[in-house]
Amino acid sequence: MSGKIVSIHSFRGGTGKSNITANMATYIASKGNRVGVIDTDIQSPGIHVIFGFDESSIHESLNDYLWGRCAVKDIAYDVTDNVGIKNGELYFIPSSMKLGEIARILREGYDAELLNAGLKKVMDIFDMDYLFIDTHPGLNEETLISAAISDVFIIVLRPDNQDYQGTSISLEVARRIGITCTSLLINKIPGSYDPVEVRARIEEAYGCEVIGVIPLSEDLVETGSREVFILKHPGHSFSDAIREISENIMRN
Ligand SMILES: Nc1ncnc2c1ncn2[C@@H]1O[C@H](COP(=O)(O)OP(=O)(O)O)[C@@H](O)[C@H]1O
Ligand SMILES: [Mg+2]
Repeated sequence: MSGKIVSIHSFRGGTGKSNITANMATYIASKGNRVGVIDTDIQSPGIHVIFGFDESSIHESLNDYLWGRCAVKDIAYDVTDNVGIKNGELYFIPSSMKLGEIARILREGYDAELLNAGLKKVMDIFDMDYLFIDTHPGLNEETLISAAISDVFIIVLRPDNQDYQGTSISLEVARRIGITCTSLLINKIPGSYDPVEVRARIEEAYGCEVIGVIPLSEDLVETGSREVFILKHPGHSFSDAIREISENIMRN
């Protein structure tokens, strides 16, 4: 396996993980790469909406694979045409949207080692250059186990004191289990803040690289996660930030 695994994590929910993941993955695919995106937020899946992937098109999901009901090759869906990119290939691995199946995960958890084995296998089968993992917020064993096999571990935070405290905890845990590829990504920076100053202050406070800063955007909220924003609004400041971070990931 030669592809890169990029995990997108946050201590708290609503930081923008799913929108950031969908936009970065689409951008990197559009540059001619084979990219996968997996929704491991099994308790509260959502990123399928951004790809315009109707829940009725989910025949077999990550849940089925984790319960041994199907092979991992059966849960990757080609969404290149749904999303509408001309170059590259974009694959999406959904979690189930069925209430009973979400409830079963809440009750029983899942085997994170089996998930990791599946990630590696699916990258091989589809010859992926990158696999993005959209994780469930907060610290749980499953997220940490998949973080351990990631080449890039990104923690998304907002300029908010609740996120600041939570991020310290996530970072500390990541350090303790030996994850050395962590970067911070600051999202939803209000227009009145100086992004250069926010970046410098956070790098100093956490002793960790900030891979990018993304402005708060009313335009993004207005699209209501119905589309991959960068494709429709390539000249927007949100899209500029996504491109810069993605280029950084492709370089390293
Ligand atoms: N830079 C941004 N500016 C404004 N709103 C944003 C930004 N990034 C994300 N959002 C909004 O925040 C909400 C949560 O985003 P989402 O990607 O679902 O986060 P998560 O996956 O972390 O829960 C969505 O309504 C989304 O439109
Ligand atoms: Mg999400």
